[in-house]
Amino acid sequence: MRIIESIAEMQQAGEGWRCEGKKIALVPTMGYLHEGHLELMRAIRSHGDVLVTSIFVNPAQFGPGEDFERYPRDLERDTRMANEAGTDIGFIPHVKEMYPEGYQTFVKVTEVTAPLCGRSRPAFFRGVATVVAKLFNIVRPHAAIFGEKDFQQLVTIRRMVQDLNMNIEIIGHPTVREADGLAMSSRNAYLTPEQRRKAVRLNRSLREAQTLVQKGEKTGEAILNKVREVLAEDDDVRIDYVQLCDPSTLQEVTRIAASTLLALAVHVGVARLIDNAILNPSA
Ligand code: PAJ
Repeated sequence: MRIIESIAEMQQAGEGWRCEGKKIALVPTMGYLHEGHLELMRAIRSHGDVLVTSIFVNPAQFGPGEDFERYPRDLERDTRMANEAGTDIGFIPHVKEMYPEGYQTFVKVTEVTAPLCGRSRPAFFRGVATVVAKLFNIVRPHAAIFGEKDFQQLVTIRRMVQDLNMNIEIIGHPTVREADGLAMSSRNAYLTPEQRRKAVRLNRSLREAQTLVQKGEKTGEAILNKVREVLAEDDDVRIDYVQLCDPSTLQEVTRIAASTLLALAVHVGVARLIDNAILNPSA
């Protein structure tokens, strides 16, 4: 695996491969890689001749008081893991080059970023859309892959690519989970052993909701109450939101009439964890 840090060098390499007729696949990450990230690399490998994994903790998507400074970082381990998962190029740009003095251009996707995480993290999706647009301009990929764990992020990127006529195939990948169901996340590293045990409630609550819906429950409030009951708030567990919405528009729904996204965000200790599931009404 070759490491590229300079934006100009990455751009030149991308243009070069394009001229040779090679397909470029991109996995954008913030590093501290886990099996979820590696699955994205393996899944997109066959979509490109060159696989680029970017590792960049993007300051623009962290709000004041959020965890930018203490976000876990381990570049040595990341490069080893990305290499083993088939990455050809590790693109690791510097903050000062991505956002030099005088930087002032941002991408704002409006409606799909308003609910869910957009409510508690107002600058988040603006930062995500901006950095992903920049990465697309620098790497010039034909395809890029994003995890469904960050469902609203995936919807936002799809919207941006469509609205800004970016000729890039966006691939969504199912959430990769630990053996007990907890969605893998770099932020799981913040959990104490006790909090880690409590964190399984997130996925358990989603599965209980799925069971309710399979049994014929269609009322949103009954489903949300079940989820809240399983999440059981205590000193370590605090719900940010639990919501039902249309999976493409992210508009809130109150009845399960069609395929519906159940999304939640929960603070467990200092970690803010998200998870989601698609609920399909029983016939
Ligand atoms: P990060 O949290 O590092 O995630 C990078 C990619 O891995 C995202 O597409 C995310 O959805 C996916 N991912 C993370 N955990 C996953 C899991 N358990 N299963 C499947 N996919 C998973 O998301 C970001 O970084 C940033 O916002 C980024 C898109 C890189 C922009 O800065």
